Amino acid sequence: MAAAIAAVTGATGGIGRAVAALIAQRASGRLRLALHCRERRGAAEELARSLPGSFVVAADLAAAEGRQALLDAVLAQGEPAVLINAAGIDKPYEPGLLIREDSFDRIMAVNLKAPLFLMKLFGKAMMGRGGGAIVNVSSTLSGHALTGGAAYRASKAALEALTRQFAFELGRGGVRVNAVAPGFVETPMTADVPDAVREQLRGGAALARFATPEAVAQAVWQLVENESITGAVLRVDAGTDL
Ligand SMILES: NC(=O)c1ccc[n+]([C@@H]2O[C@H](COP(=O)([O-])OP(=O)(O)OC[C@H]3O[C@@H](n4cnc5c(N)ncnc54)[C@H](OP(=O)(O)O)[C@@H]3O)[C@@H](O)[C@H]2O)c1
Repeated sequence: MAAAIAAVTGATGGIGRAVAALIAQRASGRLRLALHCRERRGAAEELARSLPGSFVVAADLAAAEGRQALLDAVLAQGEPAVLINAAGIDKPYEPGLLIREDSFDRIMAVNLKAPLFLMKLFGKAMMGRGGGAIVNVSSTLSGHALTGGAAYRASKAALEALTRQFAFELGRGGVRVNAVAPGFVETPMTADVPDAVREQLRGGAALARFATPEAVAQAVWQLVENESITGAVLRVDAGTDL
């Protein structure tokens, strides 16, 4: 029987890495991991060495060839059972009034177009094998306005809409599609946030702390495992917007 593969995009990132590590722990012997990175192959190879049975796929998912290469690499090793769309960018973090078309296009290509066409590619392959689970990594920033990040917010709001749409379209084929929406998480993406802003955000959370990458990974795994949840967006934000 072909091996069931869990593909994690952005596995070299703070959240993707935690998701990959948790899947390896919870599904050891049941799922092999495809660890995707864009260009930090060395970091991905190092992660692969710590997760037995995993393999690395480097691809720019903003391009159609990169997305196809990821699916082809998975099909060469087995069949796609799980897809976690964790790759993403948030910069340049421009407000709407200063937004440039090239930065808008880039953010949309990585955060929206890539997961959209990966859901299409992997969704069809998953239906062909009788089922699967997809989890998209959105953001609580999809739901409110603050300084900057206009394109980023829009990309994540649209990703949540597509999560529901694909849940509807793939459900009869046994494929569930959900999203997690983290609040602020300490990762390379947020490393340049000024301390004053960080403290303001932390103080605004009901739990007076941030969610960790491991907490986001737990929520992702819950959505992979629970066979009655599809079309959901699960916030993991330590109570940021209550
Ligand atoms: N950190 C937060 O506070 C936070 C909050 C809410 C939601 N999120 C979302 O969570 C996800 C992961 O974020 P993170 O904080 O873990 O970010 P991160 O540490 O900066 O990691 C980003 C990942 O995306 C990959 N990537 C970037 N551009 C790519 C492209 N064109 N094609 C393929 N892969 C690409 C990177 O690959 P390389 O390493 O090879 O460059 C890296 O693995 C993102 O979707 C982000 O929007 C983050």
